[in-house]
Amino acid sequence: MNILIIGATSGIGYELWKHYTTKGNTVAITGRRDEILQRQIKENPGSTVAFRCDVADLLSFDTMLKDIMSKFGYLDLAIICAGVGELNPDLDLSTELATLSVNVNGWTNVVDSIYKIFEKQKSGHLVTITSVGGLQPTPIAPSYSASKAFQINYTKSLQQKSKGSSIVVTEIRPGLVDTRMAKGEGLFWVMPLDKVVKEIEKAISKKNKLKIVTTRWRVINWILKHFM
Ligand SMILES: NC(=O)c1ccc[n+]([C@@H]2O[C@H](COP(=O)([O-])OP(=O)(O)OC[C@H]3O[C@@H](n4cnc5c(N)ncnc54)[C@H](OP(=O)(O)O)[C@@H]3O)[C@@H](O)[C@H]2O)c1
Repeated sequence: MNILIIGATSGIGYELWKHYTTKGNTVAITGRRDEILQRQIKENPGSTVAFRCDVADLLSFDTMLKDIMSKFGYLDLAIICAGVGELNPDLDLSTELATLSVNVNGWTNVVDSIYKIFEKQKSGHLVTITSVGGLQPTPIAPSYSASKAFQINYTKSLQQKSKGSSIVVTEIRPGLVDTRMAKGEGLFWVMPLDKVVKEIEKAISKKNKLKIVTTRWRVINWILKHFM
């Protein structure tokens, strides 16, 4: 398969990259940290192609996607992991807007551009990584939770749009996961990265519509959905 992982230099995206390169796929990876991307190519030269790109820079993303498609010709699977989340209890405006430029503006450009490629191909599998946090407004990271609520609804819209076609849209909705993104004190139920990624891999291969990871976060998701 030809696979694209947006945001593969750490955390969930990095682990997914490791998984898919062992399966005889060609995996295009992106991120802003070039030194990590170069190391990833060295580790897996036969099956990895890497592109440095900040998704908040819409034009540079568009150019990169064209490059990837001219290499691939056809894209089977795209997983969108790129995202930021800062604690910002003082509502520093530049932090709030920077979060939105990645998680809302950049993210929308990414998913729409890829969705349009799948429309042209008449098939493809788009995977978004949202968050249980999108159901829970929080005073310490309002732009993060609001941006994840946006992503949840947007992914549902794309799922409705794809009905009757061969395009599949999967939403992966994690609770807390042990990556550099999980910030703050007193965090509970922070799930081990390897366990989460195994569940994500399974959901992708089954082409699930929605996967909340892990099981115990399904309980929190249910409570938030029905009582908040
Ligand atoms: N960890 C959690 O508790 C948790 C819970 C729920 C949902 N999630 C979601 O899971 C996804 C992956 O996060 P993670 O936990 O794996 O965190 P992570 O280790 O910080 O990974 C984030 C990835 O996104 C990339 N990225 C960030 N900003 C970018 C930008 N402007 N342009 C391009 N790439 C960018 C990073 O690469 P560079 O820094 O190299 O650009 C990195 O590869 C995120 O969408 C996050 O919201 C995480």
